[in-house]
Amino acid sequence: MDKILVSGGRRLEGEVRASGSKNAALPVLISSLLTAEPCSYESIPDLMDIQTVLKLLKGLGVKVDGDLRSGRVTLAAGRVDKLEAPYDLVKTMRASFLVLGPLLARFGEARVSTPGGCAIGARPVNLHLNGLAELGAEIQMTHGYVEARAKRLRGAKIYLDLPSVGATENLMMAAALAEGSTVIENAAKEPEIEDLASALNRMGARIQGAGSDIVKIEGARELHGLSHRVIPDRIEAGSFMVASALTRGDVLVRDVRPDHLDVFVLKLREAGVECSVEPDKVRIKGNGRVKGVDITTLPYPGFPTDLQAQMMVLMTVADGVSVITENIFENRFMHALELDRMGADIRLEGNRAVVRGVASLSGAPVMATDLRASVSLVLAGLVANGTTEISRVYHLDRGYEHIERKLSALGAEIKRIKGQ
Ligand code: UD1
Repeated sequence: MDKILVSGGRRLEGEVRASGSKNAALPVLISSLLTAEPCSYESIPDLMDIQTVLKLLKGLGVKVDGDLRSGRVTLAAGRVDKLEAPYDLVKTMRASFLVLGPLLARFGEARVSTPGGCAIGARPVNLHLNGLAELGAEIQMTHGYVEARAKRLRGAKIYLDLPSVGATENLMMAAALAEGSTVIENAAKEPEIEDLASALNRMGARIQGAGSDIVKIEGARELHGLSHRVIPDRIEAGSFMVASALTRGDVLVRDVRPDHLDVFVLKLREAGVECSVEPDKVRIKGNGRVKGVDITTLPYPGFPTDLQAQMMVLMTVADGVSVITENIFENRFMHALELDRMGADIRLEGNRAVVRGVASLSGAPVMATDLRASVSLVLAGLVANGTTEISRVYHLDRGYEHIERKLSALGAEIKRIKGQ
């Protein structure tokens, strides 16, 4: 297994581009299942999770053309001959579960493995299934698989107990081919939902209100091909912004949508970090020690849970105490234990982490436990004394495109040691 070595103490300077959003690309690629016509996508990041979804789609019979190095992929689901998502793919990447809605809506049946547990919490799929049942699907659970059937889904009013991103996406895709109109109340409002709705509308779907908590979908008989460019990755961009603030650097992040990072920018400013925001770029200047600020993760537009670990690293070397409250996932503080091994002072109390700023961190061997935790360890390594050796970096490779190359170009000392 590969490892990453980071030698701390370098100030980051220069420009970096955000890649296309992983979390927008995954459902958008899956939505190609809704039509027999070819669908072309741009700005698809070259990541393990994207390779996993392409493998899953190929396994269903989707024709995949293009090269991830160029970010362009064309998918044609004209000959889907298998309606099943197997356990080994769903367990490696939960977003695979999103094939359920589109397969069921277009082909009348689907068999998809349930994802099971995951490092950051239980992550059930009850809201996906309840919503599909409201749309008229017959659902059975057998041998760890969800089997769903419906001659044709019919529009319905659905209320989500929680604004789940995945459930909103699954149901929006299913309802796009249902008979009649669907209303999803308490829908998730994340930018990735809006991006999926805009791709679906370009395919001929009629979706209104995506990005707000009420989404209305007029079902269509058929959808058609499209060409679509996915939005920039707000979480990757936010991670580079923290890297600049941490190293007291001066980094311009290009190809970003700062309006997708409003609360994050507010919090960085509250911590004393200088952020200059333009429509598609953000410049972050770290001017010295930052101040501890309290963070509470919430569904969008609140502070994103996917930037909690990165912000925690910044707080470990801030002046004063900060309280970080995680409201989305119950077990998303595993990075705190590794950060403590690097000299941080973090006390965990249920879903709260009390972080007391220390003078400096010290490099240590650490282990990545999930995707965002892994990048937080890289960030900590950038500012720690000595060398940090991060193992299990396959987590990082799921979601950060060319991270060593991008950070090296900004002046970081980071290298990958290939596993034997
Ligand atoms: C997506 C993102 C992930 C992000 C998360 C929250 C993708 C591929 N992943 O994950 O990076 O951290 O949103 O912003 O886009 N829940 C239920 N029942 C359900 C579904 C969800 O109880 O049927 C709960 C989950 O356990 C969790 C919360 O709702 O506690 C939010 O989950 P959800 O918004 O569904 O996250 P994902 O779509 O899995």
